[in-house]
Amino acid sequence: MSVEIVRDLRGLHTSIARHRNGPLNTAASLAIVPTMGAIHKAHEKLIMEAKRNADIVLATIFVNPMQFGKNEDFNKYPKSEEEDIKRLESKGCNIIYIPNVETIYPDGFDLSINVPKLSSILCGKKRPAHFEGVCTIVTKLLLQSGADYAVFGEKDYQQLLIIKRLVKNLDIPCQILPIETVRDENGLAISSRNQYLNTENRNIANNINKIMKNAADNYKNKDIESTINLVKNNFLDSGIKKIDYVEIRKGENLDVISNNDKSNARLFIAVYISDTRLIDNIKL
Ligand code: PAF
Repeated sequence: MSVEIVRDLRGLHTSIARHRNGPLNTAASLAIVPTMGAIHKAHEKLIMEAKRNADIVLATIFVNPMQFGKNEDFNKYPKSEEEDIKRLESKGCNIIYIPNVETIYPDGFDLSINVPKLSSILCGKKRPAHFEGVCTIVTKLLLQSGADYAVFGEKDYQQLLIIKRLVKNLDIPCQILPIETVRDENGLAISSRNQYLNTENRNIANNINKIMKNAADNYKNKDIESTINLVKNNFLDSGIKKIDYVEIRKGENLDVISNNDKSNARLFIAVYISDTRLIDNIKL
């Protein structure tokens, strides 16, 4: 059966009901892969993980205005619907939900979901209201679809932990499945925003992973502050002019880490290359 494209809630519900009762049995499980489109290799991995776990795979394409700040890239966010549909279908997606803004945020919409503590640090500190926008759309998509599973990438590690907390605290019966960051041949974390990078920018960006791996290799022998300074200095030497943050935090809850207990640490970074903000994280 070819992929079914739906654009409103009624279409979504009808399609899910048909897939659950149709060629598959009534107990068929559903996995959702929320995306903002501009589908790339990392999204394809999310779809494959969804397929491995569930009978029906639903991808969503929605560039969510609520998670963009005033001066961010909402208006220029890459759009490639036709190509996205082909790629999602080729990976075995059953349903693609492509709502418009009015469908998600109809007149009179007045709600926001917040996971305040986890959202106040790292990217949340730099992009106020970003995670509120993410939590609101993800809650809507999980409730609209009734998915049993939802797949998210570790590239957005903070987002992943926030969504896990959201689902737990709201008792949403959906299991969150994480997948490891997908990287290109230079180690650069694959992201839709990489499209903004010209050749010169890309050459600079190709150093990010090497610098982070070097920090991981030397982590045992250094204190936290020296590791952070090493990464910052290496970033500046590599041509990165603006560092948003370099932090080391606990992988399980993003708590700050001390030199007395350096276990289960992750390195989190956000940098600007020209106007493009890139984030990454690795286990130390
Ligand atoms: O990670 C993303 O692409 C977005 O934040 C998400 C989860 C699709 C919500 O808009």
